[in-house]
Amino acid sequence: MGKVTEMLGIEYPILCGAMGGVSRPDLVIAVAQAGGMGILATAGSKPERVLEDVQRIKAETDKPFGANIMLMSPNYEEVLQILLDEGVRFFTTGAGNPIPLFQPIHDRGGIVFPVVPSARVAKKMEDHGADGVIVEGTEAGGHVGEATTMTLTRLAAKAVNDIPVIAAGGIADGHGLVAAYALGAAGVQLGTVFAASKEAPIHENYKQAIINATDTSTFISGKQAGVPIRIEKNEAALKHIELDQQLGMTSHELESYTLPSLVRAAKDGNITDEIVTYGQIAGLIEKSKSVKEIIEGIVQEAEEVVSQLDIHR
Ligand SMILES: Cc1cc2nc3c(=O)[nH]c(=O)nc-3n(C[C@H](O)[C@H](O)[C@H](O)COP(=O)(O)O)c2cc1C
Repeated sequence: MGKVTEMLGIEYPILCGAMGGVSRPDLVIAVAQAGGMGILATAGSKPERVLEDVQRIKAETDKPFGANIMLMSPNYEEVLQILLDEGVRFFTTGAGNPIPLFQPIHDRGGIVFPVVPSARVAKKMEDHGADGVIVEGTEAGGHVGEATTMTLTRLAAKAVNDIPVIAAGGIADGHGLVAAYALGAAGVQLGTVFAASKEAPIHENYKQAIINATDTSTFISGKQAGVPIRIEKNEAALKHIELDQQLGMTSHELESYTLPSLVRAAKDGNITDEIVTYGQIAGLIEKSKSVKEIIEGIVQEAEEVVSQLDIHR
């Protein structure tokens, strides 16, 4: 198994996860320029907008970057084609079966790391040709599964034979990076800490919500309808619970309330009456930093943590 940094052509094994309305060109460019892997969120974007976004990123950085393909989007095949034609070579996938995409991505020399919720699915992805997997624990922001990052990372690292496992969920500093590595990860994917970064193109109120949060400021709603998402305990969350518990509520119907609300919160900053998502690790984030400060700080702290490790203390 090659190193993730070599495989992806990046300096640090730190990925900024795709975040709807947040992982827009400004953030992708900042992460790429700082030596990490920026990943453009394409869910909900029309193909023309994806083309515009990719062309802007390419105009502002010559570093590699990736894109997330949301398999629930009706136009995801067209979006993938545009990205491949524009020279994007790194893909993550979410919400659906990514296996049919492996061949078209590999045919163009690309690399694909599906986001998976269990060790069993991680192994299945390897058997079908995935180049790596991202295991996302339930402490993450956004849509979540049941297993924790601690459990998933260890089990997935044991389950796969030869592909890198990237740990996501609950990591925001050097301690988290070292923990992930100790469990067998070959890299990390972060979301919440980058959503609060200076370059994240979202309303300051949203960043402030992350900065003010503690480890218990969020909970998971949407389980009944089959689309569990970690959201802040605000006024809008009450409406979310109510909708989720309505008899016959489908995942699609609940999402058609959740996603536009999230986008409005990020754009207009009404963090009381709109749905707000972030991970439990928000409790660790005390101020908005630049992406470069975040990435370099994590790497430096990780080195310090490793040099001070004493398992007999
Ligand atoms: C505000 C926000 C929006 C997110 N939106 C998406 C999304 O649209 N698609 C996706 O695959 N993951 C999404 N995620 C998950 C991230 O890509 C990433 O895996 C996760 O944030 C990592 O955990 P952390 O929040 O504890 O750092 C989102 C996360 C956050 C915080």
